[in-house]
Amino acid sequence: MSIRAARADDLASLVEIERAAGETFRSLGMDLVADDDPGSVEELTPYADGGRAFVWVDARDRPVGYLILDLVDGAAHVEQVSVHPAHARQGIGRALLERAASWAGARGLPALTLTTYVDVPWNGPYYERLGFRYLAPDEETPGLRALRDHERAAGLDAWPRACMRRSLRRR
Ligand SMILES: CC(C)(COP(=O)(O)OP(=O)(O)OC[C@H]1O[C@@H](n2cnc3c(N)ncnc32)[C@H](O)[C@@H]1OP(=O)(O)O)[C@@H](O)C(=O)NCCC(=O)NCCS
Repeated sequence: MSIRAARADDLASLVEIERAAGETFRSLGMDLVADDDPGSVEELTPYADGGRAFVWVDARDRPVGYLILDLVDGAAHVEQVSVHPAHARQGIGRALLERAASWAGARGLPALTLTTYVDVPWNGPYYERLGFRYLAPDEETPGLRALRDHERAAGLDAWPRACMRRSLRRR
């Protein structure tokens, strides 16, 4: 049980993890989110090829959670972090986010960013506990604004969403 880089032969299982993790939104009446496209092997391939996809694997080396990173305006952007519900609340999400922070820190990047739901307990409030803070709209960089526009166009803003940032600079 550990984190490693995602390989091409993991990617189909990551789509399944995404689909299963999305189901958790149904309990909040957010069926639109649960039904959102879970992505595809083709979409995940550049992340794996670029070393920007990490998986948490079980004792048989099978992924049960994953995180993918983009570079957005000079920060490492958490495009997705998902853990299969059968393995939730064991600190896997936190460990994947710490791995992302190490990856970004090793490259001299100043921050992790993400977009998320403000009122979902395992989204905004969870990330706040992990050191992220909400960005005011005028703090959003052009790349983050473009991502938010895309999300709005996909209908995902039926519930409050926001950008968050975790600084990686030592104080
Ligand atoms: C967000 C996610 C990756 C966290 O993974 P995880 O391995 O369960 O995370 P951790 O074990 O580090 O912490 C989970 C915390 O989330 C919160 N949480 C998770 N599920 C919850 C629920 N059903 N109700 C309330 N809080 C919940 C709790 O604060 C929990 O900590 P606790 O168990 O100590 O109380 C996972 O919940 C997930 O895949 N969710 C669906 C997809 C998603 O929302 N992705 C993020 C998109 S921005």
